[in-house]
Amino acid sequence: MTTEMTPGVIWTGVVDWSVRMFHSYAVPDGVTYNSYLIKDEHLTLVDTVKNHFEAEFIHKLQQITDIKKIEYLISLHAEPDHAGCVASIYNLNPNVTIVCSVPAKEILILYNPGLAKAKFMTVTNDSVLKIGKNELKFRMTQMQHWPESMGCYMGDILFSSDFFGQHLASTERYVDDFDIFRVIMRMEDYVANIMNPFRANVAKTVAFYQSLPINFIFPAHGLCFKHENCKVALEVYQKFVDQTIKVKKIVILFSSMYGSTAKVSQIIAQGVLSAGYEPVLLNADTVEKAEISYQLFKSKAVLIGSATLNNQMMPNIDGAINYAGTLRIINGLKFGVYGGAGWSNTGVEQIVGRMNEFGAENVGTCSWILAADEQVMQQAFELGRKVALSVE
Ligand code: FEO
Repeated sequence: MTTEMTPGVIWTGVVDWSVRMFHSYAVPDGVTYNSYLIKDEHLTLVDTVKNHFEAEFIHKLQQITDIKKIEYLISLHAEPDHAGCVASIYNLNPNVTIVCSVPAKEILILYNPGLAKAKFMTVTNDSVLKIGKNELKFRMTQMQHWPESMGCYMGDILFSSDFFGQHLASTERYVDDFDIFRVIMRMEDYVANIMNPFRANVAKTVAFYQSLPINFIFPAHGLCFKHENCKVALEVYQKFVDQTIKVKKIVILFSSMYGSTAKVSQIIAQGVLSAGYEPVLLNADTVEKAEISYQLFKSKAVLIGSATLNNQMMPNIDGAINYAGTLRIINGLKFGVYGGAGWSNTGVEQIVGRMNEFGAENVGTCSWILAADEQVMQQAFELGRKVALSVE
């Protein structure tokens, strides 16, 4: 099905209902790949979809137009989940002009050597593309996600590519017809797992988009925004770049072998609660790394509990720290570490070292051999409280 989003702009995307893992990023609510057809004097398509959906996408377009009549194909982002059918459109319509950033042209051709013969128009922040009564302007967003991304705007409509996207599968197209809190949560989760390393660059684009008279935001993933709800999307990104997106929560991330580290986690949580913070207990062995990263992104500090296995921290703690650390989510966090061991508590020391490498600040540790006695429980309570009180 296609949807008329606003007079002359048709949603021609696809919904990936069953996907649950997106290059190691857990997406429990599925994904939508958005594409938009602009009906003007010069028929224009904004983005395509993931190649797995080529048949559905082409069929959908053919229901509403003759693909040979598409004059411009705007490729905002060369990542294959959006540019996966650029070559398909070109093969059906070799006269189409592919409009993209300078670095995107090279990437599109590297992915699809057959596009080397295609007509390209590369654009910059100063370019204007007149497609009839509408004109498209462009905003380069390079290294805010990938090195070639851009957004484009047409009157009061912003085609924002990955900006303001959320991984959600839905039959609805507008936030107005959906659960807005779920959309906000998935948008924040997207920022944490995709945009966070590029915050300084993203800030410039957010300031620019804030200055536009936007009445519609059409992202490349998930639900779209219109009228007052555009402010909701902009506010999430504004809070992200202003670093005010965190709430009064503290993550307690643990991995236990025979249960003592898990049991102590409950006491740590009591210490956190006693200081007025909400504890978010996450078992690294059962919670996906993307969810852990999102919770850390929203939290003011973290306590990490790990048993020691083969003289190492537990493997899922290791994986979670590396995943969040390379996303720069750990940088600047206050942290405490705790854990039990059979005979040598090297796991706790390792975690302190790794967290320091990722730019976090150690507040204290608590460790024990085999079972945690009442003295350890008291130390754990104090550690939870101390970490919470260390947060400004
Ligand atoms: Fe959704 Fe960056 O691709």
